[in-house]
Amino acid sequence: MQVWAVANQKGGVGKTTTVVTLAGLLAEVGYRVLLIDLDPHGSLTSYFGYDPDELDNSVYDLFAGDGAVDAALVNSLLKSSSHEKITLIPASTALATLERKAVGQEGMGLQIAKALRHVRQQYDFVLIDSPPVLGVLMVNALAACQQLLVPVQTEFLALKGLERMVRTINMINRARQRKLSFTIIPTFYDRRTQASVQSLRELHNRYAENISSAVIPVDTKFRNASIKGLVPSSMDSGSRGVHAYARLLRSLMEAVDAEVVV
Ligand SMILES: Nc1ncnc2c1ncn2[C@@H]1O[C@H](COP(=O)(O)OP(=O)(O)OP(=O)(O)O)[C@@H](O)[C@H]1O
Ligand SMILES: [Mg+2]
Repeated sequence: MQVWAVANQKGGVGKTTTVVTLAGLLAEVGYRVLLIDLDPHGSLTSYFGYDPDELDNSVYDLFAGDGAVDAALVNSLLKSSSHEKITLIPASTALATLERKAVGQEGMGLQIAKALRHVRQQYDFVLIDSPPVLGVLMVNALAACQQLLVPVQTEFLALKGLERMVRTINMINRARQRKLSFTIIPTFYDRRTQASVQSLRELHNRYAENISSAVIPVDTKFRNASIKGLVPSSMDSGSRGVHAYARLLRSLMEAVDAEVVV
């Protein structure tokens, strides 16, 4: 089972879109995909038609009480989605109360990793949507994943947010035995604008080793898919945006294969 987290300390960079689009592409070739919404805003949860204000069971339950996590608890959180191969552990607004707690709060940093041990046989891929705040939820996402995806809007202000994120990754890596590898995904690219072209160049200059060669263009079809609650590839498999994510996925899969061989 591969676990990928999608995170950036900046909001609105395409994190949830990245999760949903990659999930759709993986599901369409037959992989069993589990999505975990760790964002208190619950955009991923809403995407699939659930209301984060109304849910009785959510990922919050993994952090409640003494933090004990068993298979029955994890299985009680699973929800179906618009795609039969995609399952969701939804967020609820109660998650926001956790965010106020200190980073790396004693004993609560591994709740997601613990939960995933119970579903290892059930899924091929787990994608985690992380909130844009460095708190106990993001720490959980980073601790549970083998690969971190960092979408970055191709504009100058976004580069500052990325610096912060890279500092966080370095901090986390000091505590991990195995270094967390990360892939920067340029998003909202519009080659007609100087801001996009120059900031993409800057990303290549600064983060040559970590930047994805697939660049995600601005594509209004993502919003159309989200209104319908469908994964973008099942709405319009030929769109430029879906093509770019398919290219990204191919390179991520090559990295996974290389790891398995090593
Ligand atoms: N490549 C793109 N082209 C056009 N629109 C996009 C693209 N990616 C995402 N969007 C749209 O931009 C909005 C923000 O994207 P998204 O929700 O994926 O960002 P986010 O990083 O998850 O935001 P937040 O931090 O609020 O959770 C959404 O309405 C989405 O449909
Ligand atoms: Mg989001």
